Amino acid sequence: MIDELTKEIEGVRRSFLNEIEQIQSPEKLAALKERFLSRKKGIVGQQLLKLRDCTTAEKPVAGQLINQLKLFIETELAGTEEKIGARPSTQEQWSDCSLPASDLPIGRFHLIAEIQRQIEELFLNLGYEIAYGPEVELEEYNFTALNIPEFHPARDEQDTFFLDGFDNTVLRTHTSPMQVRYMLAQRPPLKIISPGKAFRKDDPDATHSPCFHQVEGLLVDRGVNFSHLKGTLEVFCRSFFGPDVNLRFRPGYFPFTEPSAEVDISCFMCSGRQPDCKVCKGSGWLEILGSGMVHPQVLRNCGIDPEIHSGFAFGMGIERVAMIKFGVPDLRLLYENDLRLLGQFG
Ligand code: PHE
Repeated sequence: MIDELTKEIEGVRRSFLNEIEQIQSPEKLAALKERFLSRKKGIVGQQLLKLRDCTTAEKPVAGQLINQLKLFIETELAGTEEKIGARPSTQEQWSDCSLPASDLPIGRFHLIAEIQRQIEELFLNLGYEIAYGPEVELEEYNFTALNIPEFHPARDEQDTFFLDGFDNTVLRTHTSPMQVRYMLAQRPPLKIISPGKAFRKDDPDATHSPCFHQVEGLLVDRGVNFSHLKGTLEVFCRSFFGPDVNLRFRPGYFPFTEPSAEVDISCFMCSGRQPDCKVCKGSGWLEILGSGMVHPQVLRNCGIDPEIHSGFAFGMGIERVAMIKFGVPDLRLLYENDLRLLGQFG
């Protein structure tokens, strides 16, 4: 059956080619089209009827052969239509520009960029300026001026990327060196946030990456105290995570702030009410940032008199904020650039 059909189809194809080669007028072309492709009596349609006589095993092969024939005939007809002017060529085709446009895929910011922008927007509204700093940083600014002494473990080869052939430079391990740069360059009052990349020699896992993003905050003025820090962080966290979020300040240690506090927010998923909550793991709290009052020695290192001025600083990880806010379980997902994941945000 298939052999027979193959021969027959080849015959149809040849006779079609023979005929179409002779055709000069659009009318004749239309008639040819009718004869081969007309739904009911067309030659191709007749071939399709033969499928009825095929066995189940033969049917798919036969169907494919006939479809190929149909496609061939359609393509030839379209080509000849264009050649003899029965149809305007593609360039001349009239287009209706009043029709609604087809849906174009519209890009969007990556989740990390999006969160960074939201944080920037929020602090701009609080009167902060945005200051971007270099990712290759002087050891002096990354550590020494921030009161991180020579023997501090963070300076260890294991945590820090040092640059071969460039003495005293590192890939910044946090965004805090921007505190130093800004205080050296500007006189108080000053009020900045500084977002950007930071680097640490960490093996990638669900919560670590050798390159990550932070946002630093710094405010220096006369009479700044801890309640200003608390108020600012409260406004930020409630605007960002929701108006009902509570804050918890735990004593912490950073060499460049004194006193220092680690800040947790109450779990916006369960408010501590669900022992099996996926977001806070039942603790009711989520660690969100490090903060404190700028250490007097850091102010002095930057030429600011701690008897006159005081300030607060804070720093948070953007990936951490993204993971908490959107329930992303593994930090690496943010870097794999799988559009099925990234397309869910923004
Ligand atoms: N730089 C600190 C860190 O990377 C965060 C921090 C910033 C803490 C400012 C206090 C003040 O962990």
